Amino acid sequence: MCIRRISAAVVCVVAWTALLFWTTSCSKPLTEAQEGGKALYELNCYECHEENQLGLKKVPPKLHSIFSHHYLSDGSTPATDAEVRQVVIYGKGTMPAFNGRLSEAQIADLIAYLHRK
Ligand code: HEC
Repeated sequence: MCIRRISAAVVCVVAWTALLFWTTSCSKPLTEAQEGGKALYELNCYECHEENQLGLKKVPPKLHSIFSHHYLSDGSTPATDAEVRQVVIYGKGTMPAFNGRLSEAQIADLIAYLHRK
């Protein structure tokens, strides 16, 4: 009887641990590059792409799942690292160019962050 109780308790603990692990592993932890990209994003991109703080007429598109679509918001530019890099470097419409303001390594970190799951 006692052994049964103990094993029931063990099963219970294992099940709770598994459940806890399952629920906390939904969003993957960020890699080092993604952490760097996150900081850059919050500094340089957040004000427009999350809040549109400047009240731009063309509301900057949300970038969270940018790589899960085939195309960027214009519907014709492929959603690839290379195209996103182009937009960041040269700007697009009312989006400013970051050429010279961000290094290649910083842009790579930003792209890694936009790839987060
Ligand atoms: C001053 C506001 C502003 C800032 C700051 C800004 N953006 Fe943008 N961004 C825009 C606007 C507006 C567009 C839409 C341009 C268009 O299609 O005419 C855009 C478009 C984009 C696109 C294309 C998305 C799509 O689906 O079409 C990407 C990628 C992008 N921005 C990335 C960034 C990143 C990364 C940063 C930070 C380094 C950043 N932007 C900073 C305003 C901004």
